[in-house]
Amino acid sequence: MSAHALFVPPRPATPAQPLSFFGFLRAIRANALSMWPEAAYQQDVVRRSLLSGTNVLISAPAAIRHVLVDNADNYRRTHASIRILRPITGDGLLLSTGEAWRHQRRTIAPALAPRMLPLLTRHIVTATEETVARLSALIALANQPIDLLATMQTLALDIAGRSMFSLETRQYGAAMRAMLTEYAHYARPTLLDMLLPASIVTPRDLGRRRFQRRWMALIDSIMRARMAAPATGTPRDLFDLLRAARDPDTGAAFSRDELRDQVATMILAGHETTAVALFWAMTLLAAAPDAQARIAAEAATLDLSAEHATEAVEHLPFTRAVVSETLRLYPPAFVIVRQAIAADRYGEIDIPRGAVVMIAPWVLHRHHRLWRDPDAFDPTRFLPDAPPPPRFAYLPFGAGPRVCVGAQFALAEATLVLAALTCSFHIARVDTTPVLPVAVVTTQPDHAPMFRLRARGALVR
Ligand code: HEM
Repeated sequence: MSAHALFVPPRPATPAQPLSFFGFLRAIRANALSMWPEAAYQQDVVRRSLLSGTNVLISAPAAIRHVLVDNADNYRRTHASIRILRPITGDGLLLSTGEAWRHQRRTIAPALAPRMLPLLTRHIVTATEETVARLSALIALANQPIDLLATMQTLALDIAGRSMFSLETRQYGAAMRAMLTEYAHYARPTLLDMLLPASIVTPRDLGRRRFQRRWMALIDSIMRARMAAPATGTPRDLFDLLRAARDPDTGAAFSRDELRDQVATMILAGHETTAVALFWAMTLLAAAPDAQARIAAEAATLDLSAEHATEAVEHLPFTRAVVSETLRLYPPAFVIVRQAIAADRYGEIDIPRGAVVMIAPWVLHRHHRLWRDPDAFDPTRFLPDAPPPPRFAYLPFGAGPRVCVGAQFALAEATLVLAALTCSFHIARVDTTPVLPVAVVTTQPDHAPMFRLRARGALVR
């Protein structure tokens, strides 16, 4: 793609000066992407004092490596993250710590290793084929405008549900969807969430606890249905894999409660992030017809059926580059937050005990010192023959011991869905209203724009 053709998608306004204390707290609750001043995109460190202590945003790759990898044991999740996530993930992999976390990570990682991808891609392909068929019917009938945000949310949850519970998702999918929508209310942090330690119960926490009981009861009933179904010799989905998984060091299996919390964690962590990534990819492609045509041409020569999809992912370098570029411009996990257990220092960066350390993929991925044309959509920077980005400058999945355990699954899913949809449809926006990212828990659009899809002629096989 030549430099003059680069598309620069709109982004929220950035304050010229650091925000006041209350301005900062308001921004965290309304749109966290507008809380960092212009200087954050030029500097290694932005530090500010809040009533609750020091807050340090770090964008220097070597210092990020220090926090997330070399001295990772000194940093834990914040009280606010725990109170927001625990109702939906329980004590699963995302929130556990110490030996409990090590046991869970060792036991789960093999189920999501690249060699297990064929089992999971089967579910990705089946759910995607159904979505393509549904969209084709809709546009053939009335050429209706399509809400691709809702479509991607439904598809990503369907994929997460079927990958976990291939037999039960048809029956329980609607109930899961309803509860996850309800959770969006509890996920929005309140002022008290941010200021009080997790041990003090806030009014919002009471609602969260009631929600947790109902959500975990739903997961329990799906598990009961599965356990009553006849077993097979070969695993059908992630649930079969997790149920059979053993800690390679101790041989221990997950208890029933542990299994339930892992299932809840995987469904939450796995669907919302991928849904927004796919939505942003479609929005970028609608503005870049050349990139669409290139994906369609790449995908048209491949067999994307359930049996061959895993292999096909290896032959979709441009589609994969669009996924990587989308995750750079719109990282679903826009910030990784830690709290320092003990005082720490890296070079000139002083981190007091209790300081909140932020590593913000949103800022890092648009940092002027680390990227050429940081705000422009240019997938070619991720093609296999392009120079790789500086280490620790590109972190859509985090880094270090707590790096995303589902990254390979997510990348395969996003690549295959994008290839199948782009191969089947020309994608265009109905109007030209800018779509701005808003970050509260993940990087969402400020509204759901409508799209016009037109069949390309060759439907996905
Ligand atoms: C585009 C999609 C995804 C993105 C952008 C994403 C991003 C991330 C990030 C940044 C972290 C690290 C958080 C931190 O260090 O505080 C993380 C952790 C995690 N992710 Fe993902 N994720 C995605 C998809 C998935 C999927 C599909 C699954 C499960 C099937 C998953 C499961 C998890 C779990 C369990 C953790 C916690 C790991 C641990 O603490 O050991 N994620 N993810």
